[in-house]
Amino acid sequence: MNFKLLFFSCLLLSVTNIYPSIAAKTLFLPVTKVLHSPRNQYVTVVKQRTPLISVKLTVDLGLEYPWVICDHGYVSSTYKPAHCGSAQCSFAKHIFENCQDCYHGGTINTPGCNNNTCVIDSFNTVGQRSVSGELFQDVVTLKSADGRLLSSPNLLFVCSFTDPFAGLASGVKGIAALGRTKVALPSQLAVAFGLDRKFAICLSSSTTSSGALFFGKGPYNNTKLFDVSKALTYTSLLTNPAYGKDVGFYYIGVKSIKVNGKLVPVDSKYLSFGYPVPHTGGTSITTTQPYTVMQHWVYYAVVEVFVEEMEKINIPRVADVAPFEGCYNSTHIARTAVGPALPSIDFVMGDGAIWRIHGANSMVQVAEDVLCLAFIKDGEDFSTNCAIDIGGYQLEDNFLQFDIANNRLGFSSSLLSKQTSCSDFNLKYH
Ligand SMILES: *[C@@H]1O[C@H](CO)[C@@H](O)[C@H](O)[C@H]1NC(C)=O
Ligand SMILES: *[C@@H]1O[C@H](CO)[C@@H](O)[C@H](O)[C@H]1NC(C)=O
Repeated sequence: MNFKLLFFSCLLLSVTNIYPSIAAKTLFLPVTKVLHSPRNQYVTVVKQRTPLISVKLTVDLGLEYPWVICDHGYVSSTYKPAHCGSAQCSFAKHIFENCQDCYHGGTINTPGCNNNTCVIDSFNTVGQRSVSGELFQDVVTLKSADGRLLSSPNLLFVCSFTDPFAGLASGVKGIAALGRTKVALPSQLAVAFGLDRKFAICLSSSTTSSGALFFGKGPYNNTKLFDVSKALTYTSLLTNPAYGKDVGFYYIGVKSIKVNGKLVPVDSKYLSFGYPVPHTGGTSITTTQPYTVMQHWVYYAVVEVFVEEMEKINIPRVADVAPFEGCYNSTHIARTAVGPALPSIDFVMGDGAIWRIHGANSMVQVAEDVLCLAFIKDGEDFSTNCAIDIGGYQLEDNFLQFDIANNRLGFSSSLLSKQTSCSDFNLKYH
């Protein structure tokens, strides 16, 4: 090899390291289900800071601003606070810039306590409390789907000082915001690594075998050598007109619900945006509710039709087990590849797409021989402003691709019907 060529190839190598976007198409992160009362969580791990450490983050599909807890020794030589008037602050701010000196107190010029920084409000959805702190940038390293480690020096997070017991599962140090806005991770990673503005999530139902989070366009091959993106049905991602485009939530247009093919008598008006008041209504998708939460007018209508259909097939009903209604003696229920053999539940979208929910996602085992309908009514512990908030249990072993650039959601329904599951990605990429 002559010197010119050697020089050229070294240059190329260093350029690839500085601008990983040249080759990255898809990034992969494992996601693990963690049992936690009252809210099970789906937890991922990113490598952040200098020196790099692993940081556990709870995944929140609808959140706008990613945040990490700063008050338990955030140590990093590459921590950069975002100063007022900077491009970072204007990129992140929503309404006005909240400019502060050492917002959280402590030692000046340490993470969370820098002068002249913009303070951003985010949210701890599992602990149901607001979280705020200075905006900062730091190094984040992720793995590409083809196994390379790629690094970005500039990912924005909010530096939060928070009650560590505020609902987060053990060891979790913040929330990975996957919302629809530009500061959420899907859009930040798309810019930093030159990816398409789309991401996919596949939550495993197992606590011992991880599911997958992909950033970028795929392919999303699993160990069964099957590209799941080829098996998706698409529906539009909607915008709640009362919020406009600047919120993190992913809404889809559920227009009616069927149980065993039978229409549930809920007027589509009660499923749409703006009912009962502006900012409410519609159907969103969330990873921070453990089960789908419905307003009572939707919930009771679904339970009633489900109970009728179960009577028709003579499954003995047993006493309700809170927070669930519609519980059955499971010794009388056959098992199939997609879970207990029971009436399927369909969410029918305005654009004609149908999201079918089989037994594995519609029924939860609450005791040795008791299965309950895995939906919850809006209330104190599990509240929502939406008509339907599709939660974690209903998403497990379903593959979802959020195509932010094209405002559409691709969904697979249960992968169990295709003899695979969300834990079939892990071995391939981990
Ligand atoms: C930070 O701001 C405070 C007042 O808001 C000031 O007293 C202090 O000297 C500043 N520290 C630095 C390092 O600029
Ligand atoms: C379920 O049915 C079995 C068999 O009929 C019975 O032995 C058992 O006690 C029932 N369990 C409940 C919770 O009703």
